[in-house]
Amino acid sequence: MRFPLYNLLLIPTCSRSVLADLLVPSYEPPVDIASNKSLVAVAWRNATATLHKYLSDGNEDGVPVAIAAMKNITFSVGMFSVNDPAASKMQFHYTSPEIANAPNGTNKVDGDTIYRMASVTKAFTVLAGLLELNSTHWERPITDFVPTLANYTQNTPGEDDPTHITEWGKVTLSALAAQIAGVPRDPFLVGEIIDPAKITAMGLPPLNPNDPLSLPPCALPENYNSTDSACNEIPSIESIQNRPPTLLPWTSPAYANTGFVLLGVAIANITGKPLADVYRESIFEPLGMKSSNATVPPKSEWHHSVIPDLTAFDINAGILTSSGGLLSTTNDMAKFGVGILNSTLLPDDETRKWLKPVSHTAHFEYSIGRPWEILRYTHASGVITDIYTKLGDSGAYSGFIVLLPDYNAGFSILSGSISSLRFSVVAQIAEVITDSIVPALAAQAAKEAEKKFAGVYNSTIPGLESSLTLSVNHTVGAAPGIVISSWTSNGTDVLAALPARLGPGPYRLVPSISDSESGTEAFRLVASLDAPIPPSAEAPKGLFTSMSYLAADWILLDSPTYGGIGISLFVFKIGSDGNVEEVRPEAFRVSLKRTDWGWGCN
Ligand SMILES: *[C@@H]1O[C@H](CO)[C@@H](O)[C@H](O)[C@H]1NC(C)=O
Ligand SMILES: *[C@@H]1O[C@H](CO)[C@@H](O)[C@H](O)[C@H]1NC(C)=O
Ligand SMILES: *[C@@H]1O[C@H](CO)[C@@H](O)[C@H](O)[C@H]1NC(C)=O
Ligand SMILES: *[C@@H]1O[C@H](CO)[C@@H](O)[C@H](O)[C@H]1NC(C)=O
Ligand SMILES: *[C@@H]1O[C@H](CO)[C@@H](O)[C@H](O)[C@H]1NC(C)=O
Ligand SMILES: *[C@@H]1O[C@H](CO)[C@@H](O)[C@H](O)[C@H]1NC(C)=O
Ligand SMILES: *[C@@H]1O[C@H](CO)[C@@H](O)[C@H](O)[C@H]1NC(C)=O
Ligand SMILES: *[C@@H]1O[C@H](CO)[C@@H](O)[C@H](O)[C@H]1NC(C)=O
Ligand SMILES: *[C@@H]1O[C@H](CO)[C@@H](O)[C@H](O)[C@H]1NC(C)=O
Ligand SMILES: *[C@@H]1O[C@H](CO)[C@@H](O)[C@H](O)[C@H]1NC(C)=O
Ligand SMILES: *[C@@H]1O[C@H](CO)[C@@H](O)[C@H](O)[C@H]1NC(C)=O
Ligand SMILES: *[C@@H]1O[C@H](CO)[C@@H](O)[C@H](O)[C@H]1NC(C)=O
Repeated sequence: MRFPLYNLLLIPTCSRSVLADLLVPSYEPPVDIASNKSLVAVAWRNATATLHKYLSDGNEDGVPVAIAAMKNITFSVGMFSVNDPAASKMQFHYTSPEIANAPNGTNKVDGDTIYRMASVTKAFTVLAGLLELNSTHWERPITDFVPTLANYTQNTPGEDDPTHITEWGKVTLSALAAQIAGVPRDPFLVGEIIDPAKITAMGLPPLNPNDPLSLPPCALPENYNSTDSACNEIPSIESIQNRPPTLLPWTSPAYANTGFVLLGVAIANITGKPLADVYRESIFEPLGMKSSNATVPPKSEWHHSVIPDLTAFDINAGILTSSGGLLSTTNDMAKFGVGILNSTLLPDDETRKWLKPVSHTAHFEYSIGRPWEILRYTHASGVITDIYTKLGDSGAYSGFIVLLPDYNAGFSILSGSISSLRFSVVAQIAEVITDSIVPALAAQAAKEAEKKFAGVYNSTIPGLESSLTLSVNHTVGAAPGIVISSWTSNGTDVLAALPARLGPGPYRLVPSISDSESGTEAFRLVASLDAPIPPSAEAPKGLFTSMSYLAADWILLDSPTYGGIGISLFVFKIGSDGNVEEVRPEAFRVSLKRTDWGWGCN
């Protein structure tokens, strides 16, 4: 996209304080998460103190039910960080009376306790697919990999009746992974089914046994191998294939367990291996997840498993495995989180692509990826941190994997209980951790950035008066990033001369590309949009007329250029001792050596 200068000069100013930043973190991810000095460790102590308080709160009036019920739910929470392996020691475990007195399994939970993870499994299924499938597979229809569905579609093309017949030939694996395929939500007997005893209360008629949808193959006992197993594969697919779609593919995200059942069948088809072997060989073993499994552990392992109810634990999930059948521990979930964030198994460009939304939902603060449920956290400064999560909630287990790519960190929650309030409690725990940890990660990143980068950088060329002063503004709500407090080039005040169309200051540097091998770290200059209201003009607020649309940094990032280099590009050189030695505002073709470390460091 090209913006001729005369166009940009017409951009109106905006009355609201909006940051024009990129979808990158404001600072490099923090390195110190767990030491006593880390603001994140302080916040973690705060969060666990809050959990202790909730666990001791009674059932008195005014205590929200998700807090009052916390003491009834067994749970384990664990942090992890790529940059600080000690973060995975930050754990909180609570054993409720239900598990303390349980006849089967453990009576006390810790980091090695095995829980079912329910639908958190879906994140593993997509990772298995990313590792085992190629880009062509992802864009092919599910019918290419599931012979039962291919036969159904051949005999029942949906074009004539798209409201009643799912057009499986248009459902791709990538649409299934992103919850946007429009397929029926739940396989037979998963999810909520209206109790036949209640049909008259709802005005529902009795079902006609000749109606093929009313008596699916999975309603027949001969399609089960045993009482603890799921319906067999072919009857399971036959029980799904003739149900009406929810939407046409790529209309809107709509949660579908069925989609992940089929994705699992496709992965097994493409790899030619049982899915349990795929999880083990492509994820669990390479990441060292020694206590994770796609099948119920052998009885010898039950003494460290959470078993609120044997029938919810001792299940052969069969075809449902890829939707919600995996088991893991808090220590293993930390390995999974670090493995994703550090691109241990995937190339790093594929990880970045994976950790992006595929579609919005109808809510501003909630988007969907493959299979991420992406929540948008707004800091006091207005800057947004995207939180990549996958929830799980089934049987007697609920959980979360939570990734914070901006900070190279995250946390997991695993829980077990037969209480119907289990998921509400787990969501409350996720809230407590997020509210403490996310601002603390931002503050710790700011603190570390100040120590690493703040100070004065001068030209060493005799007679050339060029310098740069960098700082960090710790005021709550201040625009984050490394602030350029002053910038002189050959005696000229550059900040005063920057094109007005970049927007007003504070001008800040945000990380763009890091190359640890050569010790270079690139940053880009971003502006702020705290423009004063022009006295005589009406402040425009519209989507099309606002600054955030026209002058956002993502549009102007590499403009203007001088001699082929954007004036926004700054490259720091890091010495072998880890200290910043110099910075090059690249378009200015000058190296500025660090001469004064500011007050962050003597
Ligand atoms: C934890 O942080 C919250 C919010 O900042 C604060 O209100 C609360 O007093 C802190 N609690 C503890 C135990 O430090
Ligand atoms: C917690 O469990 C106890 C004992 O079963 C029960 O009396 C109480 O109502 C439960 N609390 C909540 C909030 O569910
Ligand atoms: C992350 O990856 C790098 C490079 O592959 C590796 O050196 C490092 O040990 C990894 N960190 C963790 C915590 O696994
Ligand atoms: C589980 O608990 C029940 C009830 O106490 C007991 O009968 C059963 O033997 C236990 N099962 C195992 C495998 O320990
Ligand atoms: C993907 O794999 C299939 C089957 O092995 C192969 O036919 C196809 O060419 C591959 N596509 C790409 C883009 O590698
Ligand atoms: C995979 O699915 C295709 C097409 O539906 C089928 O022809 C093939 O036999 C299946 N392969 C395996 C290993 O299941
Ligand atoms: C294919 O579909 C037809 C019609 O729905 C059905 O009669 C037949 O049994 C199916 N064949 C296979 C191999 O599933
Ligand atoms: C269940 O039985 C079917 C048919 O006998 C067999 O093909 C399948 O492997 C069995 N499944 C499991 C999970 O044992
Ligand atoms: C996973 O379960 C299988 C079947 O019970 C068992 O053979 C295997 O040892 C288990 N693996 C782990 C890591 O527990
Ligand atoms: C570096 O630049 C600053 C700001 O222009 C100036 O005050 C200072 O004297 C310079 N220091 C050196 C060592 O040149
Ligand atoms: C820090 O940020 C606050 C809030 O935006 C602002 O009022 C203050 O002027 C800033 N301080 C400096 C030194 O820029
Ligand atoms: C600095 O400015 C002077 C004139 O003001 C100019 O002659 C000289 O080429 C400039 N030097 C650099 C390195 O920009």
